[in-house]
Amino acid sequence: MIVTAVPDIELIRKAGQIAGSTLEAISQMVQPGISTWELDELAEKLIREAGATPTFKGYRGFPATVCSSVNEEVVHGIPNKNKILKEGDIVSLDLGATVRKTENGKHFDFIGDTAITVACGQISPRLEKLLADTKASLYAAISVCKAGATLDDIGGAIEDIAKAGGYGIVREYGGHGIGYQYHEDPFILNYRSGSKTKLKAGMVIAIEPMFNQGGDHVRLKQDGWTVVTKDYKPSAHFEHSLLITDDGVEILTKRPNEVIK
Ligand code: MF3
Ligand code: CO
Ligand code: CO
Repeated sequence: MIVTAVPDIELIRKAGQIAGSTLEAISQMVQPGISTWELDELAEKLIREAGATPTFKGYRGFPATVCSSVNEEVVHGIPNKNKILKEGDIVSLDLGATVRKTENGKHFDFIGDTAITVACGQISPRLEKLLADTKASLYAAISVCKAGATLDDIGGAIEDIAKAGGYGIVREYGGHGIGYQYHEDPFILNYRSGSKTKLKAGMVIAIEPMFNQGGDHVRLKQDGWTVVTKDYKPSAHFEHSLLITDDGVEILTKRPNEVIK
């Protein structure tokens, strides 16, 4: 979507702020013994208390608020009471908050979509680096964004960091425009594609690199949602929703204590 009207910018900011602060709150709860279900319940409560709704619940039939993907799970893991996090795990937490405006009986939804991958207790130095590098690639991609930059600039910034670290890059999933119906064009690849498609001021997009400790390849599990690496090596995922401006971006889903580097 292209937002230019000030009231709409305020609503998309509100959605992003709720998503970012909820994500920070649940990520702080990650510790050995907690289930992904408990994290999901807390996220739903916080999003609703803030006056928004969980974007993913019911989206294409997804049953929960937070996509929670542990270790070799890449994205779209379903929260479960029996999925108990243990020391040394990593977990990608991805959530959306929807703020609704109603005008003349018509609904308009504004959405913030954001993810981080966090450590449960102590993790290996190699996993620490996987998280740090994937996060750095998101910031690198954000730093090239402005009106006139191409999708290839974004993919290139991400690919360079993945190559330097020797990671696999997930090819099947990527960033996207965000509109009233959530996902919209353009699809934003996390590698160089040669795309000359340009960003425009007022565009709202999500960038979401996914790096694998092993190869690029992923597969879908039997549950129809959870994406796992084919080689079962761990994977990390970070995402922000962004408003493109003439000279850069506004990070809509910035977390209250996030330090952008
Ligand atoms: N949050 C994912 C993304 O970043 C999409 C989740 S789809 C859902 O694009 F159905 F699982 F919610
Ligand atoms: Co997301
Ligand atoms: Co997204």
